[in-house]
Amino acid sequence: MAFPVTRPRRLRRTGLLRDLVRETALSPRDFIYPLFVCPGRDQEQPVTSMPGVSQLSVDRAAREAETVWHLGIPGVILFGIPETKDAVGSEAYHEHGVVQEAIRAIKDKTPDLLVITDVCLCEYTDHGHCGVVEDGEVDNDDTLELLVKEALSHARAGADVVAPSDMMDGRVGAIRTALDQDGFENVVIMAYAAKYASGFYGPFREAAESTPQFGNRRSYQMDPGNSDEALREVEADIAEGADIVMVKPALAYLDVISRVKRRFRYPTAAYNVSGEYAMIKAAAQNGWIDESTVVPEVLLSIKRAGADLILTYFAKEMAAGL
Ligand code: PBG
Repeated sequence: MAFPVTRPRRLRRTGLLRDLVRETALSPRDFIYPLFVCPGRDQEQPVTSMPGVSQLSVDRAAREAETVWHLGIPGVILFGIPETKDAVGSEAYHEHGVVQEAIRAIKDKTPDLLVITDVCLCEYTDHGHCGVVEDGEVDNDDTLELLVKEALSHARAGADVVAPSDMMDGRVGAIRTALDQDGFENVVIMAYAAKYASGFYGPFREAAESTPQFGNRRSYQMDPGNSDEALREVEADIAEGADIVMVKPALAYLDVISRVKRRFRYPTAAYNVSGEYAMIKAAAQNGWIDESTVVPEVLLSIKRAGADLILTYFAKEMAAGL
């Protein structure tokens, strides 16, 4: 039935009517908050390109996790900035590495908070690549062994979820097999399944001190032109045992989130990455956009596209507002 019988504006007239018929709404339970853990005690090092985000020492990270928990956010994802870096990222799988220590400290204070760890080598290698470099190239199969060691060390420290973000082929299967053999069959794998070679990771690389020292990540992260390939990546990761699949970044890839969710009907995560955060913060600081309107609008778009959970640096401020 058309106008004048049908008047869509009828349901937009008051806030209560709008609330009643809203299709998608945000809750603190939708978010995962990223934490950057650095060496030392009582350290807080602000990240210039990410206002409001700091590198935190283990003790501070544990306190921050408590705040996150009290805001109703179900989980954090940990990234480590190690004391020293080397060619094979040894600190990534050290029993007393920063992330391993942070897991224990967080579990000590807030045992129910979900602790997710990013499994990758780029923060730990002196060349800044996500795997071992041989003859100027990142070697896939040799990297798998190190990723397995890293994931196992996170599980032993008490991680609930491991999230491989390196984009090596076969890493989900290798990690799943190793976890199961070691009795960690209940540790969840959230795979960065469709992770694009993106310019939006710039501020993160400042935060995690992980900028590649030569070349770029295009030989392992996905080409931005591809979305059929994203479906193949997701399909492979599910076949290898991924419990949750992720699309990253979020905003420039909403179509990919949507395709992945509709095709696989699998728990789907989206990473609202550092550059997406920085753009909004910068524009808001200039008075060019209103942050309190734009942030929920952006996060809603990600959820509406099909994401069941969103990794976002806005988690705290959003949860506080909700
Ligand atoms: C590690 C990793 C990166 C991000 C998450 N895990 C950086 C990269 O691949 O260069 C980016 C997150 C963000 O930009 O917020 N490989």
